[in-house]
Amino acid sequence: MTKIKNICCIGAGYVGGPTMAVIAQKCPHIKVTVVDVNAERIAAWNDSELANLPIYEPGLREVVAEARGRNLFFSTDVSAAIRDAEMIFMSVNTPTKTYGNGKGKAADLKYIELCARQIAKEATSDKIVVEKSTLPVRTAQAIKTILSNNQTSAKFQVLSNPEFLAEGTAIEDLYSPDRVLIGGEQTPEGAEAMEALTEIYANWVPRERILQTNVWSSELSKLVANAFLAQRISSINSISALCEKTEANVDEIAKAIGMDSRIGPKFLKASVGFGGSCFQKDILNLVYIARTYGLDEVADYWEQVIDLNDYQKRRFAQNIISKLNNTLSGKKIAMLGWAFKKDTNDTRESAAIYVADHLLNEQAEIHVYDPKVSESQIHKDLDYLQTRSPEENREMVQKVVDIEQALAGAHAVAILTEWDEFKTYDWAKLSALMMKPAFVFDGRNILDHEALRALGVNVYGIGR
Ligand code: UDX
Ligand code: ADP
Repeated sequence: MTKIKNICCIGAGYVGGPTMAVIAQKCPHIKVTVVDVNAERIAAWNDSELANLPIYEPGLREVVAEARGRNLFFSTDVSAAIRDAEMIFMSVNTPTKTYGNGKGKAADLKYIELCARQIAKEATSDKIVVEKSTLPVRTAQAIKTILSNNQTSAKFQVLSNPEFLAEGTAIEDLYSPDRVLIGGEQTPEGAEAMEALTEIYANWVPRERILQTNVWSSELSKLVANAFLAQRISSINSISALCEKTEANVDEIAKAIGMDSRIGPKFLKASVGFGGSCFQKDILNLVYIARTYGLDEVADYWEQVIDLNDYQKRRFAQNIISKLNNTLSGKKIAMLGWAFKKDTNDTRESAAIYVADHLLNEQAEIHVYDPKVSESQIHKDLDYLQTRSPEENREMVQKVVDIEQALAGAHAVAILTEWDEFKTYDWAKLSALMMKPAFVFDGRNILDHEALRALGVNVYGIGR
């Protein structure tokens, strides 16, 4: 059986970085090299301070500190790492296409293709190529076709091994995953490749949690898992709108239905809307695939999950606007949180971006505080929408250094991310800092609304 001694991972992002750091930590007998075309990112991974790693994840620093330089390496020499490895993980980004066929829906596979071409060009010995990035079903076939252009006698096996980690809990999720999914060709060579990857995970994951399937089931399972999770959030968010009309409390409903063991309590937290790099992208992808096969009813069904999420973000912003007498011009709005969830510096598809965009249309003056997101990232996210000029974004939105600076002189405060420090802040100080009457819009339902009302503050949560 193929014994893996050298692993290469192409892509040092939110998936590749933490996943490889944990594999290296748990498998000191395997040399793991993570490569990326982005030299700045690689330099940050190699930073001697460790404080400046390109990704913030609780516990990641400690893992990198233990393995880096021992059997974990970060490099820009993609070709050398491909040549030396018996197993190559592809962890490059697969954003939604912004051009051509499938624009706004299909996954953009240009980075995956480039990666496969480079492997085909450089490989001089047999390789197991592992899809880590989330990909549309049947991508393995496309990768195989590209790899077949290799000029040597090297043979390739393509496996699908989707990553289920969630940001903010990446290390925990990698240490004890609910399951590890490995899809491969149903041939003796495919079985051998799956076994080689199983061996690696078996260093710390119980074997009964390592699931082997055919490659297409594995690819599609990842899209379906994310679609189901996002669907739960849109379902509870749809009910939150109804609660606001009926005086029912969405958190009480979530608790009541979640205690039914058939429903379960997780992923029922009503919010301003889900964000992150996966949910929207994967559902759009699922919708696109369904339409491609002429399954319009299936596509329409899943598309509603995204429509509802957009509605929720719009509804939250609209509520702020209408409660402030339909005019935000010249008013300061404090936004607490910009990351798409707590414990990460990732802002991809964060609800905060879209809420800010709506408020800026009303000429609000926005002061953002987020403990992990930089001002340049906030401006970049707004520029990307192209709703207004970069100059206007910089004029109307600034980052401040703490909660109190954000609150000072604000007409309203909107909570967009559930950072712990927002929960533990002494909100009794709010009245002295903010304009009166003070308005609080709690997009995450994390504050004590009764206590705030007792202070004379107008409080609006989600679905309560
Ligand atoms: C998700 C999947 O959970 C993970 O398995 C997959 O590998 C990648 O996509 P991630 O996007 O990192 O992970 O975070 P997740 O915890 O799933 O949260 C996604 C979004 O949903 C966040 O904006 C979060 O705030 C929101 N959310 C989550 C809710 O609004 N309510 C909930 O009950 C749970
Ligand atoms: P994810 O959340 O999926 O990990 P990221 O965008 O954080 O996505 O990371 C993907 C990384 O892959 C980026 O750092 C990007 O520079 C890198 N990348 C993309 N294409 C290639 C390639 N052909 N070779 C090497 N690295 C690549």
